[in-house]
Amino acid sequence: MTAMRTIAIQQPPKLVCGREASAACSEHLLQRGSQRILFVTGRKTCVFADGIAQALRSSGAVCDIYSEVPQEPTIGAYETALTAARDFQPDTIVGIGGGSPLDVAKLLAVFVDEQRDISQFFGIGLVERRHVHLVCMPSTSGTGSEVSPNAILLDEREELKRGVISPWLVPDATFVDPHFMTSMPAMVTAGTGMDALTHCIEAYANRFAYPAIDTYALGGIQLISGNLLQAIQSPGNLDVRENVAIGSLFGGLCLGPVNTAAVHALSYPLGGRFHVPHGISNTILLPHVLRFNLPAAPERYEQIALALGVIRGDTPEATALAGIERIETLAREAAIPMRLREWGVPSHSLKEMASAALGVTRLLRNNPRDVTHEDALLLYEAAY
Ligand SMILES: [Fe+2]
Repeated sequence: MTAMRTIAIQQPPKLVCGREASAACSEHLLQRGSQRILFVTGRKTCVFADGIAQALRSSGAVCDIYSEVPQEPTIGAYETALTAARDFQPDTIVGIGGGSPLDVAKLLAVFVDEQRDISQFFGIGLVERRHVHLVCMPSTSGTGSEVSPNAILLDEREELKRGVISPWLVPDATFVDPHFMTSMPAMVTAGTGMDALTHCIEAYANRFAYPAIDTYALGGIQLISGNLLQAIQSPGNLDVRENVAIGSLFGGLCLGPVNTAAVHALSYPLGGRFHVPHGISNTILLPHVLRFNLPAAPERYEQIALALGVIRGDTPEATALAGIERIETLAREAAIPMRLREWGVPSHSLKEMASAALGVTRLLRNNPRDVTHEDALLLYEAAY
């Protein structure tokens, strides 16, 4: 199934994980001499930025906090943040939050001193440079944005998600502190955790899977599937939060070199048009796409099932099917409504969504099995 190729593994040069990571972030910024630090965050995670900014201000740094990044940010929301960033002229940008603030922070670090419009940079490898120091601190465990070269915005006019993908979007330093995750609501923990699980699964069963990345993928599957329910049930348990956060980080490390496949391609129209949260749309589609893909790569899906904790069956197919059932059980126990109709998606839109999904060729080309328009429609119908 796999087509071995040369891959580039680009990761943040500094990756700090653990309960002291937040304090280590302040130290890092002081040591490197950051003078004008812009924190980019959302309203709920602003409190974390406040704490770090306070410590830095007492050491003489000038700090500003932009806390208006919405969920699933539009190009318009990004442009508002860009104006604020240009007014402040930071030498350092620190993104704190879920994927939305982190993606916006990453884009601001690149475009704060770039005169050309962002529309010229949607796609892979079009960014040429970044001068501003970039730090990311996740407060959810899912998007992997804290280590990935991707940033996604909603094009509100086209009702489409658009991505800037570039090594320049990989942060200079990432700090993963499980304290930041303890206030995450149950449904956000569930959705983002399942998104991370999907990153690992889609990177492992992928036409461009690569041994070095397989290790992250299988490790992430184990950590997430073994800890996600407990993270939902005991949100203050730091050990469990840390395990899911590291699993999510592993998922993020899969995104640059290998990336995702048909689940994400089919998921994007649901986010773009109907604002189904990204992790939720992935969770809904995941079992259907896996059953569709299974004949193309039974041994890969068998390994995924074993990492999910399933006992080996008589054949790779049997083990893989048990793995898919395990995912469905996990989603059910996480109380995720698993039908598209439950998320306000009208049935007459499925055909149009199938056409939109087929346009996401950069991900579909990774999928172990080719997906036709008819296949995409059948998958949406199965999930409806
Ligand atoms: Fe994702």
